Amino acid sequence: MSAAEEKSLRILIIHGPNLNMLGHRDRALYGRLTLDKLNTLIRRSAADMGMELRIYQFNSEEKIIRTLHRQRNSCDGVIINPAAYTHYSYAIRDAIELLTIPVVEVHLSDIYQREDFRKISVTKDVCVHQIYGKKEQSYIEALAFLKEYLNKQ
Ligand code: DQA
Repeated sequence: MSAAEEKSLRILIIHGPNLNMLGHRDRALYGRLTLDKLNTLIRRSAADMGMELRIYQFNSEEKIIRTLHRQRNSCDGVIINPAAYTHYSYAIRDAIELLTIPVVEVHLSDIYQREDFRKISVTKDVCVHQIYGKKEQSYIEALAFLKEYLNKQ
């Protein structure tokens, strides 16, 4: 199939709690970009890769879960930064587990080089991949990973 004939992949991106405050959080860990600027960068890369994005940010667990439920049949893959929920939300883990589309977990910071509680991800085992520690590039890598993963299927 030529590139022009390839159907564009629909990717759902969910940013978890406190990521709306990017730009005001520790820059050494999370980078300098505000969430709007991060989303612009992600959208630009996705357009270059021929992918369509729906991007959400939620501070509540319930909204994250509801969005995963509602969008599960209308997108091809998910990139999620569950933020602090990564470390303890079995409810988000269960919502990811029931999906039949691939989910990539991303983190801006290197969660394995921080406090002990952050070294545990209860969501990563139900994701196809985990990318961390590359600041905004974590999301760009996740897009590239999903593109390759979905094109192989
Ligand atoms: C984070 C890491 C989490 O431990 C933290 O609670 C966040 C952001 C990251 O992107 O590095 O809010 O998910």
